[in-house]
Amino acid sequence: MLAAAFVALFALAQPLLAVDVYSKDGTRLYAEARGDPSKTHLVLTHGFMSSTHVFDVVFDSEEYLDKFYMVRYDMRGYGWSDKPNHVKDYESIRFAEDFQAVTQVFNVSRPFVMTWTVVLADIYEHLGHGTIAGAINLAGVPTSELATKYTAKPLLDRFPAIMQNNNVTLANENLVAFAATLFYDRPRMPQQLQAMVVGFAAYMPQHVKELVITRKQNITRLFTEGRDLPYIYFAPEFDMSVKSAEVAKFLAPHFNNFKTVKVPKCGHLPQWEQFDLVKDEVFAFVRNAAAAERVMKEDHTHQAFFYNSRFAVQASA
Ligand SMILES: *[C@@H]1O[C@H](CO)[C@@H](O)[C@H](O)[C@H]1NC(C)=O
Ligand SMILES: *[C@@H]1O[C@H](CO)[C@@H](O)[C@H](O)[C@H]1NC(C)=O
Ligand SMILES: *[C@@H]1O[C@H](CO)[C@@H](O)[C@H](O)[C@H]1NC(C)=O
Repeated sequence: MLAAAFVALFALAQPLLAVDVYSKDGTRLYAEARGDPSKTHLVLTHGFMSSTHVFDVVFDSEEYLDKFYMVRYDMRGYGWSDKPNHVKDYESIRFAEDFQAVTQVFNVSRPFVMTWTVVLADIYEHLGHGTIAGAINLAGVPTSELATKYTAKPLLDRFPAIMQNNNVTLANENLVAFAATLFYDRPRMPQQLQAMVVGFAAYMPQHVKELVITRKQNITRLFTEGRDLPYIYFAPEFDMSVKSAEVAKFLAPHFNNFKTVKVPKCGHLPQWEQFDLVKDEVFAFVRNAAAAERVMKEDHTHQAFFYNSRFAVQASA
């Protein structure tokens, strides 16, 4: 009885909504929302061979819930979502439509996006500037085409073994070893998380892994129209998966409001391994970006006021 009351209270305090969302082409996506929709909107999109569970530590955090309405989903090809089979199913526009479908279902508007990046290029190419309020990049690569260039050697060396389709033993050995490199302080990586990482990869047929990593994207509009997008990049000191410091250097010149945060004693999952540091930076980033946007809006209102009053004077003259 008491337990039931607690469960009900907990559910009221942080309602979790889990739904299947159907994208424009009919692909089913698994999506979840949690928190108070009147708060700042934050969409979490995972990276390669991953799943939305890589955000558990954020999505379940009272501190994040205090600040954000959070929405997360498994991208097509991953986790609990559909994994269609053809090259055309992984065109950039499909990933933009998926983002749009999920955000529409949960009434999300101009969210901040926390991501390992790739979906930003899709959003900009097909939905344009203004769709999102800011980018929070957790040591990701800019596009799938640039994945090879910016993948760190320990993961790059394992890639052929992980991607091949002839020897299960070889693939599993390499996945397990890869999972163990995701934290700098390996004994501190929760065993459950390690097992999940191996599982995320197993959910994807080898063919689908290949399709998502070889898909084509166009980063032009992100780099041109997105110049003023507030952007924060976390570059962990001991990232064994991505050359994140190099990615930060590559991205920085393309944005006017770009911040690189070096994360000491950290591997490829900064939101998890350096939870407090990342949280504090994210909160400050969102606060500043929102304040800058308010100033801009007030400027516009101001201009509109002057325009309208001039117009009124002319009209009455
Ligand atoms: C989104 O908004 C519509 C219309 O206001 C509402 O009916 C629906 O319940 C909302 N969905 C969510 C997930 O809040
Ligand atoms: C598969 O990989 C394992 C581990 O590397 C190796 O020992 C084994 O010989 C391989 N099997 C075949 C058939 O190549
Ligand atoms: C990328 O997008 C830009 C701007 O929309 C366009 O001019 C360019 O041709 C595109 N590049 C490719 C390879 O499609």
